[in-house]
Amino acid sequence: MTAPAVTVLGLGAMGSAIATRLRDNGFTTTVWNRTAAKTEPHVEAGSTAAATVAEAVNASDIVLVVLLDHHSVREQLDPVAAQLKKTVVVNLTTTTPNQARETAAWAAEHGIHYVDGAIMAVPSMIGDPSARLLYSGDENGYATAQAVLETLGTTEFTGEDPGLASLKDMALLSAMDLMILGYVQAIAMMRTAGTPAVETAAEVEAWLAAMLPHGKELAAIVDGGTYDTGGQSVDFDRFGIASLITASREQGIRADFLEPHQKLLEELAAAGHGDSDWIRVIERLTIH
Ligand SMILES: NC(=O)c1ccc[n+]([C@@H]2O[C@H](COP(=O)([O-])OP(=O)(O)OC[C@H]3O[C@@H](n4cnc5c(N)ncnc54)[C@H](OP(=O)(O)O)[C@@H]3O)[C@@H](O)[C@H]2O)c1
Repeated sequence: MTAPAVTVLGLGAMGSAIATRLRDNGFTTTVWNRTAAKTEPHVEAGSTAAATVAEAVNASDIVLVVLLDHHSVREQLDPVAAQLKKTVVVNLTTTTPNQARETAAWAAEHGIHYVDGAIMAVPSMIGDPSARLLYSGDENGYATAQAVLETLGTTEFTGEDPGLASLKDMALLSAMDLMILGYVQAIAMMRTAGTPAVETAAEVEAWLAAMLPHGKELAAIVDGGTYDTGGQSVDFDRFGIASLITASREQGIRADFLEPHQKLLEELAAAGHGDSDWIRVIERLTIH
């Protein structure tokens, strides 16, 4: 069976890595980039450059879109909707779940097989199994493109709701972001005692590694839904967090990253949930 032809729209850092990987794996590649000069090294390496988006999408039945954001994707794809009919479009551009759903609805109107993707990797990881790529949307479209997508890293089809891949990506990135803020807070506090940042970072790493497995126990309480397991309570935790905030300020360090947690615990206590498992804070996150 001959390898399918693939078009890559967008040759920034990520699109370039993807086009290179596909070419190295024997796929016939057509590339397009708004700034045409970026196609030159790809043409030298064996890809075909398209002068327009229309020309690019006509060249292949599978089109990978690796542009900056939702706006740039729609700016480029909307005018070529008719040419994309029956094409599998895999949008690897980072978007929000609702933006993915909006593009999927647009694609469905035009008979396009739309798969939304989220890349959990940096360009240098593309092609390595450590690169995790999430996909959701048109399952048949995913199956058609699967051999292509599997060359980019470890793939996972998260479901037919086109927003799911993005949702998981954003949820995991949120977890990372909040965890890194924890590093920042600890480093800031320990710097007041002259401890170098790298030293505190190593301590934080060991501490978090020991604590992370307990996350699943907390998750089980959330799934249970009653918050009455007798674990660490809201009242216990709100005094704990108050100490952290006070200690931080005593050292001349702002506690802005910690204060939202305290606020949620205080809300729970005020609502009569002082005895609940503290993880009940998750219920306060829902916007009503
Ligand atoms: N880099 C990473 O580590 C990483 C990791 C995960 C996900 N991603 C996602 O992958 C996507 C691409 O990232 P990147 O690192 O390749 O970014 P980048 O290096 O900044 O490249 C951006 C690309 O988008 C193009 N572009 C921007 N606005 C455009 C428009 N209005 N019309 C047409 N093309 C437009 C640029 O074209 P020009 O060359 O003409 O400017 C360029 O090809 C982003 O959504 C990013 O969030 C990146």
